[in-house]
Amino acid sequence: MSAKTGTISLGGNAVDMPVKSGTIGPDVIDIGKLYAQTGAFTYDPGFTSTASCESAITYIDGDEGVLLHRGFPIDQLAEQGDFLETCYLLLYGELPTAAQKADFDYRVTRHTMVHEQMARFFQGFRRDAHPMAVMVAAVGALAAFYHDSTDISDEKQRMIASMRMIAKVPTLAAMAYKYTIGQPFVYPKNSLDYTSNFLNMCFAVPCEDYKINPVLSRALDRIFILHADHEQNASTSTVRLAGSSGANPFACIAAGIACLWGPAHGGANEAALKMLSEIGHVDRIPEFVKKAKDKNDPFRLMGFGHRVYKNYDPRAKIMQKTCHEVLAELGVKDEPLLEVAIELERIALSDEYFIEKKLYPNVDFYSGITLKAMGFPTSMFTVLFAVARTVGWIAQWKEMIEDPTQKIGRPRQLYTGAAPRDYVPVGKR
Ligand code: ACO
Repeated sequence: MSAKTGTISLGGNAVDMPVKSGTIGPDVIDIGKLYAQTGAFTYDPGFTSTASCESAITYIDGDEGVLLHRGFPIDQLAEQGDFLETCYLLLYGELPTAAQKADFDYRVTRHTMVHEQMARFFQGFRRDAHPMAVMVAAVGALAAFYHDSTDISDEKQRMIASMRMIAKVPTLAAMAYKYTIGQPFVYPKNSLDYTSNFLNMCFAVPCEDYKINPVLSRALDRIFILHADHEQNASTSTVRLAGSSGANPFACIAAGIACLWGPAHGGANEAALKMLSEIGHVDRIPEFVKKAKDKNDPFRLMGFGHRVYKNYDPRAKIMQKTCHEVLAELGVKDEPLLEVAIELERIALSDEYFIEKKLYPNVDFYSGITLKAMGFPTSMFTVLFAVARTVGWIAQWKEMIEDPTQKIGRPRQLYTGAAPRDYVPVGKR
């Protein structure tokens, strides 16, 4: 038992609970024996005060606006490294040496093709299917194609499945896009780096050359780094919960993609861009801010607020800079949505309601404008988030499987339904 304890007093019965300390961050009270000792459960829907696991991957200090992966600040990783380096770091715990990095890049690159039958699997979808619907199905279907990496008790198979998903999810994402616009799928190109290859699979066509713009490729790579992991968010917790039953990793990541789709999570960048278009002009901002503040109106400023960050989201600062770089490179001047975004941010940050509730722009506020300028339709925004987050989900899933204290996730409840009563035959009701 740890030296520190916390006391929970219930109906005159005081019970000592061990308190655990992490490297940094708040202590946690280990209430695992609470039910056995008091007969009571704790109640915390939305997990606002509850740690669901121990993890050594990512640390967030939401009050200070800090995000660290394996101890390294997100801005250093995003500005000085590349996405595959962050993938290596998340998976293995350390930054790679040059030789390790070259080997990792090689291994990911050699896994980018998907089974040719996957192309036929795609034909079953309507052309107007949302690409996230296609992604949930296609990633789940990988389990049907790669049986040799679904034995989760085998460390080697776990790593092969991990590499496969980091490599193949972008290929499936690009296929989902090509399918909706009726263009032929573009095979991966091993001579290109990870993100340039993704751009090529999305935008190349067989009838002419596609020239990778290094500024755009670097910007998208940075966007991938910014979205790579975010500790126990809703989709990651979904992956962990799905995996806690021993489900195969492809099925678990498909579950994560399904969760990410929601507008309160990964769907927010799509929703933020839609909102900026709806506002349309800076003159209409006060009207929308008023709506956001009205308790009787469900409208919220999309791209604002975060469960954990009660300060500026550190990713949003890099995202804003990346947005300006992309627009400058593409010669987009006087982008009305950017004008609306900058003014909305200014007004909201000086408004008492947003200050008091500590609502700041999150990473999704500027990512929509950036991705739109790059040529991605809004329906692909969450898909791009899924491409980036795949490594985070996998690293967290692997950490969970390798944790000897891991148990199936099985929350309790506060039952508020009918009290016991007797069955009445249908004729007597
Ligand atoms: N606009 C207006 N008011 C807001 C907003 C917003 N975007 N976000 C929160 N609030 C208000 C709530 O109405 C609530 O007010 P109250 O205390 O008077 O009831 C208060 O701020 C706290 O909000 P909660 O919903 O309780 O906070 P929670 O932590 O549950 O929600 C969330 C966080 C879901 C991100 C929320 O801020 C939101 O809906 N934002 C818009 C969607 C969005 O941008 N999501 C992206 C998240 S980042 C990501 O997934 C990468």
